[in-house]
Amino acid sequence: MSASRKVNEMSDRLYVGIDLGTYQSTIASSADKMHTIETVVGRPKDAVARNFLGRDVLFGDDALKNKLACNLYRPMAAGVTQDDEANLAAAKAFVSHLLETVDPEEYDEVLGVICSPSHVSFTDKSNLVATLRGQVNAIMVVTEPFATAYGIDEIAGSIVVDIGAGTTDIARVYGTFPTDEDQVTITEAGDWLDLQLMELIKKKYTGAQVTKDMVRKWKEESSYVGGDTREVTVKLSVEGKQQVVDIGDLIQEACGLIIPKIGNAIKKIVAGADPEYQPILRNNIILSGGGSLIEGSAERIASEIADIGDVKVWCVEDPINSVAIGALKLASDMPDDMYTSIN
Ligand SMILES: Nc1ncnc2c1ncn2[C@@H]1O[C@H](COP(=O)(O)OP(=O)(O)OP(=O)(O)O)[C@@H](O)[C@H]1O
Ligand SMILES: [Mg+2]
Repeated sequence: MSASRKVNEMSDRLYVGIDLGTYQSTIASSADKMHTIETVVGRPKDAVARNFLGRDVLFGDDALKNKLACNLYRPMAAGVTQDDEANLAAAKAFVSHLLETVDPEEYDEVLGVICSPSHVSFTDKSNLVATLRGQVNAIMVVTEPFATAYGIDEIAGSIVVDIGAGTTDIARVYGTFPTDEDQVTITEAGDWLDLQLMELIKKKYTGAQVTKDMVRKWKEESSYVGGDTREVTVKLSVEGKQQVVDIGDLIQEACGLIIPKIGNAIKKIVAGADPEYQPILRNNIILSGGGSLIEGSAERIASEIADIGDVKVWCVEDPINSVAIGALKLASDMPDDMYTSIN
């Protein structure tokens, strides 16, 4: 690379879109980089573990692989008090790590649009700013549904339903930044579904030894709602003895449990809208987030809410990355005065 080219690059401004998720986080940069990392941080348990691992902090997969030698933190999870020092430090380390993956040091200035879980309250948002200070020059905080709608050019009139791990966030979008009244958040989302499925398995197979991680994997591989019951065989331990069992019916049942919860929340969001806009919103309901990967979810939700009139429900193409992609698009489209400088 020539010296002059290098100088040019140094004077550049980097835009980033960051989706901090309960379960996984994604960063997208204007230099065409995108990374998704599970929102988990590991710290070696003791000096032996520190020596063996050869590092003070581990992230994502790396932390999970070494979980027995580490204390694990999920700093964005529901119920985590973000003013607890260990979690706050973990959040900070995690965000730095996420940013480092897009090489911010090669740029003069970094401007970021950030989405954080809706259960992260106002105090935590100031923690969020503290976390980003020194790494990003200016930020703008937006909600997940709005970022998604912006990214796919659907801000004119839509309802975006982001089915994440910790929460399902449902928002009316009609051409401007949504206010708090335009959004409803329910705690029935991916993690909740995992617990339902775990209960159903334990009820049917007494003594079954299953963890949340096992159940989540099975769900991600075979989730579906509606239609005929499918066969899904898995291996599990029942009182220490391995068994091969069919949980296809239980997966269908557990996934089905979330449909009326989401349906009711969508109805509330429609009912609260300007009546002249309701038909437009009803006919453009967009599912996103990992939960929208449940096969048949759009069809089942559409029939669940069919009693409110004609509806159209569809899924975004890239549900895991849509928030970060939308946030990046907002980052580069918005004028500088929309940002809060955090230098
Ligand atoms: N194929 C699939 N079927 C059903 N659920 C899935 C599938 N793939 C991923 N998920 C679930 O989606 C959730 C993760 O989605 P996403 O990345 O949108 O959440 P998040 O952004 O981390 O959470 P939140 O938005 O609540 O902070 C997890 O619960 C995961 O198990
Ligand atoms: Mg999310």
